[in-house]
Amino acid sequence: MIVLGIESSCDETAAAIVENGRIIRSSVVATQIPFHQMYNGVVPEIASRKHTEWILPVARQSLAEASITLNDIDGIAVTNRPGLMGALLVGLTFAKTLAWATGKPFIAVNHMLGHLYAAHLEHDIPYPYLGLLVSGGHSIICEVRAHDSIEVLGTTIDDAVGEAFDKVSKFYGFGYPGGAVIDRLAQHGSAEAAHFPMPSLHKGGHEYDVSYSGLKTAVINQIDQFWNPSYERTAENIAASFQETAVKILLSRVLKAVRDTGLKRIVAGGGVAANSRLRALLAEQSDLECIFPSLKLCTDNAAMIAGLGYQYLSRGEQSSLDANASARVEGFRKVGRG
Ligand code: KG4
Ligand code: ZN
Repeated sequence: MIVLGIESSCDETAAAIVENGRIIRSSVVATQIPFHQMYNGVVPEIASRKHTEWILPVARQSLAEASITLNDIDGIAVTNRPGLMGALLVGLTFAKTLAWATGKPFIAVNHMLGHLYAAHLEHDIPYPYLGLLVSGGHSIICEVRAHDSIEVLGTTIDDAVGEAFDKVSKFYGFGYPGGAVIDRLAQHGSAEAAHFPMPSLHKGGHEYDVSYSGLKTAVINQIDQFWNPSYERTAENIAASFQETAVKILLSRVLKAVRDTGLKRIVAGGGVAANSRLRALLAEQSDLECIFPSLKLCTDNAAMIAGLGYQYLSRGEQSSLDANASARVEGFRKVGRG
């Protein structure tokens, strides 16, 4: 079964052809980064306009690179939530129109479940496991029993982890998007240069939640308080110290979830799963099996959407052409534990 995937939830216009939920025949990602760079963040109106301009050529390119035509595809999968409303609507309307015109089955999928599916494109991963979904908009720790059966243990109570990388980078003028820039700078800095406090969310239903606004404030407004005077105040040292605390917050929640659930397999997804320090720290946990998608499948792409779409379509499930877009994540029920 060959599925065309379409992704336009934020600032990447993407289309991909995936066979049987696993074989990536093509994955085209047109990044809008240069158009948002001067604003140090994604401008929703620019994102929608660029998606409108690019969606058709990007979809055509995905077919051409897979050496197939529209007649060869068996279904169309598209992200319809969560994301920027105007941006989502471009991909969704495109996919619905194509499905209507060709009579092909159509399925609308959740972008965050897509991020979780990314690792399944490259690895055979048995369920259940713990999922770590970390992106610009979300930070979710969940128990995963099937591709569509997820129980959220914890989320962020304020900023998402990727958002914290982006905001720190913006404040210090390191560049955009912040995550990849801080990761690069941090390789040449010392994590010992500043000791930022970890959030203390241990009680009241927040046992698995994370928080980044305190860390962001400490790095941006109170850095003197936490700086180790034997280190120079360089971009590299700020990046390394911030990054160390940011990823250790995630690690502490993951390790708690491992202890409480007994699940020792961790699958990561989302842009922040590309972070080299997070990958290294999790790899050091010798009693855990930690699975990361390759770097290009961590950040937004349509292969993960086509792959996940296959899982629904192959069971005969389809979405109605009335399916709408939603900015919210939806369908993620928080159960917590402790
Ligand atoms: O999944 P994604 O491409 O888009 C969303 O669904 O949000 O994630 C983008 C986020 C941005 O906040 C970006 O700064 C962050 O992922 N990111 C990283 C790295 N690469 C991208 N954060 C930390 N380290 C990285 N290497
Ligand atoms: Zn994403």
